[in-house]
Amino acid sequence: MIIVIANSKGGVGKSTLAVHLAAWLFEQGHTVTLADCDTQHSSSEWASEAVPGVKTVQLAAPDEILDRLPILGQEADYVVADGPGSNTETSRALLLRADLALVPCKASMLEVRALAQATNVLRQAQDIRGGQPRALIVLSMVGKTYRLTHDMKEAAAALELPLAKTALTLKQIYADAPGQGAVVWQMGTRGRDATEEVQSLFRELLPEARASKSTRRSSKQAVA
Ligand SMILES: Nc1ncnc2c1ncn2[C@@H]1O[C@H](COP(=O)(O)OP(=O)(O)OP(=O)(O)O)[C@@H](O)[C@H]1O
Ligand SMILES: [Mg+2]
Repeated sequence: MIIVIANSKGGVGKSTLAVHLAAWLFEQGHTVTLADCDTQHSSSEWASEAVPGVKTVQLAAPDEILDRLPILGQEADYVVADGPGSNTETSRALLLRADLALVPCKASMLEVRALAQATNVLRQAQDIRGGQPRALIVLSMVGKTYRLTHDMKEAAAALELPLAKTALTLKQIYADAPGQGAVVWQMGTRGRDATEEVQSLFRELLPEARASKSTRRSSKQAVA
């Protein structure tokens, strides 16, 4: 399964979601490749420190993505592709190959309104591919006082994009995680609340990926 984290807007939490999702899938016992499609390569560096068992590849050019993503998808149970913050052609290539697109969006009315533009490429891909890839909005960096207003639900509905029930809240620990080469559940008791929300998001999004206790492995475990 090829999962793309896509929002052509920068700084919305794509890499944070991509690395945590890749780590979680790996720990559920799956083979996972993180395809870092951002020229800054920050998520592949972060993932290889936090979860060495996750294979990382850097794909930049749209042609390379179109050619190699399906092959990577056959080699691993899951490919998590981290998209760039601006390059439309890279996003287009990813969305033409993805089975599932997760669209992180900051939880403010302005950002939700800007989504129409940011998801233009997604709609084109779905149009070409008869509805594929399935896509979901994931609210990220949600403030303490935030409530999902009627307006926001409407904006998402107008785009015909479902909203994940679980949102990621604004927490310093997420911002600290890449510097420590870790995911939040490797960061001790400080990471407890973040761990709970991010893992419940993944259980919601990918219930079939969840492992039984016996097949679970630790982040630092090597692939057999
Ligand atoms: N839930 C959160 N709470 C607090 N900080 C966060 C959260 N999610 C992400 N951040 C921080 O916000 C910044 C942007 O996040 P991230 O790098 O994941 O976004 P991005 O969409 O990948 O950005 P880009 O488009 O530049 O690749 C980073 O410094 C990150 O550590
Ligand atoms: Mg990024």
